[in-house]
Amino acid sequence: MSTNVINRIEELRNLIRENDYKYYVLAEPVISDYDYDLLVKELEELETDHPELITPDSPTQRVGKELVKEFKSVVHRFPMLSLANTYDEGDLHDFDRRVREALPLNEAPEYVVELKIDGASISLTYNNGLLVKAATRGDGFAGEDIISNAKTIKSIPLKLKKAKTGKYRLDDIEVRGEIYMRISDFEKLNKEREESGDKLFANPRNSAAGTLKLQDPRTVSKRRLNMFAYYLLSADEELHSQEENLSLLTETGFTVNPNRFLCKSIDEVIEKCRILENLRDSLPYEIDGAVIKVNSIKHQKILGTIAKSPRWAVAYKFKAKQAITTLNKITWQVGRQGTITPVAELEPVFLAGSTISRATLHNFDEIKRKKVKEHIKVVIEKGGDVIPKIVASIEDKMDKDLPEVLPPDKCPECGSPLFRPENEVALYCENTECPAQIKGRLEHFAHRGAMDIEGLGEALVDLFVELGFLKTYPDIYDLKDRKDELIEIERLGKKSVENLLASIEKSKQQPFNKVLFGLGIRYVGAGAAKKLAGHFKSIDALMNADEEEINSIYEIGESISKSVKKFFSNPHNLHVINRLKEHGLTFESEATVVSENFFSGKTFVLTGTLNSLSREEASDKITALGGKATSSVSKKTDFVIAGENAGSKLSKAEALGVKILNEDEFLKLMGEIT
Ligand code: IVH
Repeated sequence: MSTNVINRIEELRNLIRENDYKYYVLAEPVISDYDYDLLVKELEELETDHPELITPDSPTQRVGKELVKEFKSVVHRFPMLSLANTYDEGDLHDFDRRVREALPLNEAPEYVVELKIDGASISLTYNNGLLVKAATRGDGFAGEDIISNAKTIKSIPLKLKKAKTGKYRLDDIEVRGEIYMRISDFEKLNKEREESGDKLFANPRNSAAGTLKLQDPRTVSKRRLNMFAYYLLSADEELHSQEENLSLLTETGFTVNPNRFLCKSIDEVIEKCRILENLRDSLPYEIDGAVIKVNSIKHQKILGTIAKSPRWAVAYKFKAKQAITTLNKITWQVGRQGTITPVAELEPVFLAGSTISRATLHNFDEIKRKKVKEHIKVVIEKGGDVIPKIVASIEDKMDKDLPEVLPPDKCPECGSPLFRPENEVALYCENTECPAQIKGRLEHFAHRGAMDIEGLGEALVDLFVELGFLKTYPDIYDLKDRKDELIEIERLGKKSVENLLASIEKSKQQPFNKVLFGLGIRYVGAGAAKKLAGHFKSIDALMNADEEEINSIYEIGESISKSVKKFFSNPHNLHVINRLKEHGLTFESEATVVSENFFSGKTFVLTGTLNSLSREEASDKITALGGKATSSVSKKTDFVIAGENAGSKLSKAEALGVKILNEDEFLKLMGEIT
């Protein structure tokens, strides 16, 4: 091996690390993306030619290709504590008093005030400068091993830089910090999820925590997570202060949040907390408070911990972001399933980074409970949810005479009488021909997560419904017969009509599970549609299935099975499906390529914990091999696969004389086929 190659590889790695540091930690890139890509490409090529020279800390090793089957549990060397909360100045004075009482009389505490980043905490272990372990907090004593995902986060160094001072060896350290997603990245992600019909994340914290637990590191690497480091522990060195630790973390390559203060008194702490609270709206990430830590590690040790929190640190929680504005009007919205929801139209007001002009009121009971009326002032809050909510109303003496809000008795869209099912708070428009429902259903059918018809969004659906071109799903596939009429529409033109018709034609190739989701059966979301399609393989089999069989599918519950039966008992829906069939949409799952095997046509029930795969994965594998995975044991069950701690299902199988396989036997059978 030429030393030239070895040297060049090392040189490239250092150059890439240095540029990653400048880009992701300092946010001061010095080379162009193009030049950076050239460095990475050269390193990748050299490593492909010399795979024996690949090391785990090479920048090319950040994103693994393997799926993480399950996150192993790892015990923390030092428990990950949480913080006690304080809410006002009085609480902070109490904290200071408790600290002083515990310390020697002549040793006044100093405090470091930091931002409390609203994300998910992480623990990173470095041995001899290399990242060897990454874990979530879990219950504080043991978390989950998420190293493959942590490695994809560019602000987490795979290899530590040498600290300038060289005061400590730092051969065996643990670094803790907060993984967070920038508000703009969170909003972008949710927009994409909305388009693809995936469930939205409620806030950046949930999206960071959810992303950390994804099984595919490649998806994690695309989500742009970041980390702020705030805590350093050393197994073999005595460290001296939090302030010094934060400098060491910066020197070794971590991002430490710059908004922090070293304070000599609790009054100074309070003043700095106010400064940090005022910063809140201008930061590109979410914070929910400040953290106050006793600076000296010697003092921290004297103070120790009680229960799950240290006595040397507290969180100071900021108040929820609220604003007061006038409620101009309450409108009633009709969803695609006919649900009537009150919406508060507000005098636009700026709150926590965006202008808010609407808030949900959920249902009529909520209007009564919060004494909401039109033209009065209301307090709105941006909480954990995507849509802001009304917290309270402020009734003025003048407002007394304003009329109470009454629930509508007719559908605001089609005028038909409304229905309130027993034990439900929601009102429904039962007219399936209601234009609002028609539009809602068509939009759902066409959107990215279902038939993915590019160009057929809200505006065009509205227009086509109003023109009488669209009423039910199959009408979309008849639009081609109106091509000339469509081209005449001012906004459209020849090219865009052709594009639209082409994407309508293309949508016929969408797989069965997407078509099933598109039909808009109540409670059948994208996930349930996938399970139903995987189990029944065709719409005919699903239509003919009885409620019990649908219900028996793993993770399909009673509300779904009832709703599916109801949907197929309606002749109008059957007519719609027949027309869609005539148009050539896919109503069958692709034939499984596996030939007849042990699993074909047999019914399995999974119970207990499997070691090498999750129950979800096992059920997917059984289905892929032509078998059926159901959730309850009956005489019709061919095999029960029993993992560890299997309970009542195993006993029932024994009682019914159903054959039982253990995990090894099951894996062996699968191994023989795949
Ligand atoms: S210190 C014993 N510092 O807040 C030290 N925590 O309940 C404990 N957090 O789980 C943590 N920013 O996830 C610390 N600057 C900061 C923080 C911070 C956010 C989170 C962390 C912890 C929770 C406290």
